[in-house]
Amino acid sequence: MILITGGRGAVATRLLSLVTDAGLAVRVGSAEPAQLTLPEGIPAVRLDLTAPSTFASALAGVRSVFLYASASHLDTFLDEAGRAGVQHIVLLSSAAVLSPDAETSAMAKSHLDAERAVQASPITATILRPGSFAANATGWAWAIKTGKPVRLPYPGAYNDPIHERDIAEAAYTVLTQPRHHGGVYDLTGPETLTFAEQLDQLAKAVGQPITVEQVTPAEWKEAMAEHLPPNFADSILDYWKSTDGKPVPLTDVVQKLTGHPGRTFAEWAADHAAEFAS
Ligand SMILES: NC(=O)c1ccc[n+]([C@@H]2O[C@H](COP(=O)([O-])OP(=O)(O)OC[C@H]3O[C@@H](n4cnc5c(N)ncnc54)[C@H](OP(=O)(O)O)[C@@H]3O)[C@@H](O)[C@H]2O)c1
Repeated sequence: MILITGGRGAVATRLLSLVTDAGLAVRVGSAEPAQLTLPEGIPAVRLDLTAPSTFASALAGVRSVFLYASASHLDTFLDEAGRAGVQHIVLLSSAAVLSPDAETSAMAKSHLDAERAVQASPITATILRPGSFAANATGWAWAIKTGKPVRLPYPGAYNDPIHERDIAEAAYTVLTQPRHHGGVYDLTGPETLTFAEQLDQLAKAVGQPITVEQVTPAEWKEAMAEHLPPNFADSILDYWKSTDGKPVPLTDVVQKLTGHPGRTFAEWAADHAAEFAS
């Protein structure tokens, strides 16, 4: 039995489709299982990675776990997983751990801690380190829908947008092919684009113009305060500053794990255009 954690997440949802299409036994864990929309017959369980009391029942009978990185109670989760007989964990980490300042960046450090915890556990761990999710663009949806400018501190910052389907396919491959067990995989999208270029592609997909307003890093941080802890906002701002005007390196790992080139941001925008339409 496979346990997919973070059931409402974009990657988890796509991975579940692949696992159920293959007819594999699976259980979906979510902090809010009542909000899941699952195929008929797929069991759900309450699993809140910040609440250890939810771990044991979610892990009973499980042999493989797809795990969102949440370092706060990870040691307890890993102990419970060992007791339950889990043999393999695929950790959704982040390329942020590759940054030279990963030890001092709050966001990167949380992923580093999660990687170290799973690697120190006797359970075989496979690590996926995606770069920037193309789905981060959904953070612009409200502005675009309401015809307002998208407010960005670094419109010329590059990243490597990766489609959630490609992360899910890579996760499916490493979950189901033992030769990948124990590996560490740096996943990027197939192209490096600035935010301004991503917004141009989104405007084409949505069929309406999108304007950008450049704001200061402090203004952006204040606007995000409800959704992002200040130290995480600082980590993100530092990263964008470091890639402002500088294309980021790409890998071919998605192609190697999935057998096809990574989906482009234009494909992501076409897949999600309805979410941005006014
Ligand atoms: N965004 C990036 O660019 C990026 C890049 C590299 C790595 N990562 C890492 O990947 C992981 C997921 O990133 P994300 O936040 O972009 O992913 P996400 O898939 O949108 O959500 C992550 C989790 O949040 C929970 N959640 C809480 N409220 C939700 C809601 N209303 N709708 C959907 N899910 C909800 C879900 O778990 P429950 O169902 O259990 O509540 C879900 O699995 C994080 O560890 C992140 O650090 C992200």
